[in-house]
Formats: sequence, structure tokens, C-alpha cells
Amino acid sequence: MTDQAPPAFTGPKRVLSGVQPTGDLHLGNYLGALVKFARMQHEMETFIFVADLHAITQWQDPKLLKNQVREIAAAYLASGVDPKVATIFPQSAVPEHTELAWVFNCVARLGWLDRMTQFKDKAGKHKERESVGLYTYPVLQAADILVYKATHVPVGDDQRQHLELTRDIAAKFNHDFEVPAFFPLRDAVSEGPGARVMSLRDGSAKMSKSDPSDNSRINLTDDADAIAQKIRKAKTDPEPLPETLDELKARPEAQNLVGIYAALDGRTDQDVLSEFAGQGFGAFKPKLADLAVAKLGPVGGDMRRYLSDPAEIDAILAAGAAHAREVAAPTLAEVKKIVGYWAG
Ligand code: TYM
Repeated sequence: MTDQAPPAFTGPKRVLSGVQPTGDLHLGNYLGALVKFARMQHEMETFIFVADLHAITQWQDPKLLKNQVREIAAAYLASGVDPKVATIFPQSAVPEHTELAWVFNCVARLGWLDRMTQFKDKAGKHKERESVGLYTYPVLQAADILVYKATHVPVGDDQRQHLELTRDIAAKFNHDFEVPAFFPLRDAVSEGPGARVMSLRDGSAKMSKSDPSDNSRINLTDDADAIAQKIRKAKTDPEPLPETLDELKARPEAQNLVGIYAALDGRTDQDVLSEFAGQGFGAFKPKLADLAVAKLGPVGGDMRRYLSDPAEIDAILAAGAAHAREVAAPTLAEVKKIVGYWAG
């Protein structure tokens, strides 16, 4: 018998992505995810949600969670995600995600989850004390994506392993239930400028909400002074910027600042080097600070403006959830039939 590739998925192209409401968003979230959402919404049907179910895999204060969801929604709007173009909704308002996640819990293998590096990073030495939800977190993520049969998932590089798992779950479901073209098998959209923004204090660590040093990241809510000061203080080396990307490789901090400049300006790293080669950080940092303030300043301001009207945000989220359910429900109904549920 010859090994034939399964028939390809033929449904529409769709974007889906989400962000957890677990703290201030930073430049990495903005460049790795939000900017791509705003761009891709014009290319195909787009669903952008706030991952409040993922958030509770680690303790969240119930009195604050709803407002944290609104903050992420405000960040989407301020980054240019347009509720007239894209569907913006809270994950908890679309129960089809969790229903599909149960089926996927029965498709995914323990060995696959054991390999997830984010669980290992978050759990550290005491995994027995973590919630079961944190362990099965990537399975819910697969359900988020596949309940819309999404073909494009814009994320930062740190989510790549979760998206590979999504692909494995889709492939095993399609294979085991003999529905070869049911779920799309697509890869993440996690390349390009901004996919991996590093800490301003350590070029080998990812810029992260959980870094104890606020100087390691630029928050979307930072004002112009804070942005400029953090860039001024960013760790660098004494060498001038080189002409080629190869020469930048052994200089993680320099590489990171060049990458940030390129992503903010919609250019490649090589373009930036061509402009600044031979210049030291004394000249480059003020230019980067000006650019960052020009691009991010309005985002923080717009976020505050949207947040001053929570009822408007809630109306956008409720309308988005209603539309998301209309798309998710038929997929779940098909899955129930395929699996052979009594209620299918
Ligand atoms: P979260 O909330 O940790 O991060 C949101 C998005 O920001 C990206 N990101 C970065 N990109 C570049 N450089 C960085 N330093 C950086 N830090 C974060 C992340 O890659 C992500 O795209 N599991 C997801 C949320 C989620 C999801 C989904 C995403 C749940 N279900 C389905 C896509 C599809 C998360 O925790 O992202």
C-alpha cells in the first residue's frame, strides 16, 4: 500500500488568536500578537478572544478578573482590531470551547503533554502542586482554534509548541474518526519581526509579564517618559552596530533592540542595520525611543479612553460572543455526531 497524504481541508481561511488576561500587556504581546491581529483582520475572517479560561489555570482574584478581560479587549481595540471587521469575545462566553476540549482530552496523549515546555517552566520544581488545568492547558488551546476550524493563528514564537500540539490533535482526530479533511492541519503564524521580543535587561530571556523587573519590559500603559527611560537603561554592549545580521548573532541585546526597531517600523532587521551600521547605542537608543514613543504612546492613550466606558466594551464583547457561538456551535454539533455521543 502506498502512503497517501490525507485529502486537504477545503473550508474557508480563518484567523483565530487570544491573549490571557493575567497582567499588563507588553511590547512582546503587542509585536508578537496584537499588531498581527490588526493586520490579518483585513485578509480573512478573524476571531480574537480573551482567554479567561486559560487565566484561571493559575489563581486569579474573582473580583478583578472581569476587569482584566476588559483591559485586554481595550488593548485589542487600541491596537486597531476593529469590532466591525473582527469578532472580539471572551472565551468564557462561548462554552463550545470547553465542550470540544473534553473530546480533545480524550484524543491527546499524556506523552504529548509531558513534552510541553511551558508547563515545565510555569510549574517549576513542584508540578504536583499545580492545577490539572495548567497541565491540560494546551488541549483547551487546541479547542479554541479548531472549534472555528481556524487556518491561521498569529502568535509569538513561545506558542509554537502549543500549535504543533494542535496540529497533532487535529491529525489524530481526523485519522481516528475517519474524517480526513474535518479539521485543518495548519502551522502557526509565528515568524517575522516581533515574534520573539526579549527582555531589555537580558537578551537571552523572553520579555515577559512575570519578570520581577519592570525595567525588563515596556508595558502598553507606560507613558512616554517611562518608555524612553527603559530604552535608555536597556542592556547593550560597547560595540557599534554592524553591517550584517551574521555579525549581530553573538550580541543578543543588540539583536533584540534592532529587532524591536524593525518590528515597530515595519521593516526588516537588515534594513535597520543598513541605516545604522557604524553607529553606537548612544545614537541608536534615542532614535529607538522616539520610534517606540510614537508607535506605543497612542496605544496606551486609546486603551485608557476605551476603559473609561466599560459598558461599551461589554457590548462589543457580548455581540462578539453571540457571533462566535454561531460559528462554533455547528462544529461542535458535527463533532458530537462524529464521536457518536448519545446527545449527538
Ligand atoms: P499569552 O497571553 O501568554 O501571550 C499573548 C500573545 O503574546 C505573545 N508573546 C510574545 N511575542 C513576542 N515576544 C514576546 N516576548 C512575547 N510574549 C508573549 C504570545 O506568543 C501570544 O501570542 N496560550 C496563549 C493564549 C491562547 C491562545 C489560544 C493563543 C489561548 N488559546 C489559541 C492562540 C490561539 C497565551 O498564554 O498567550
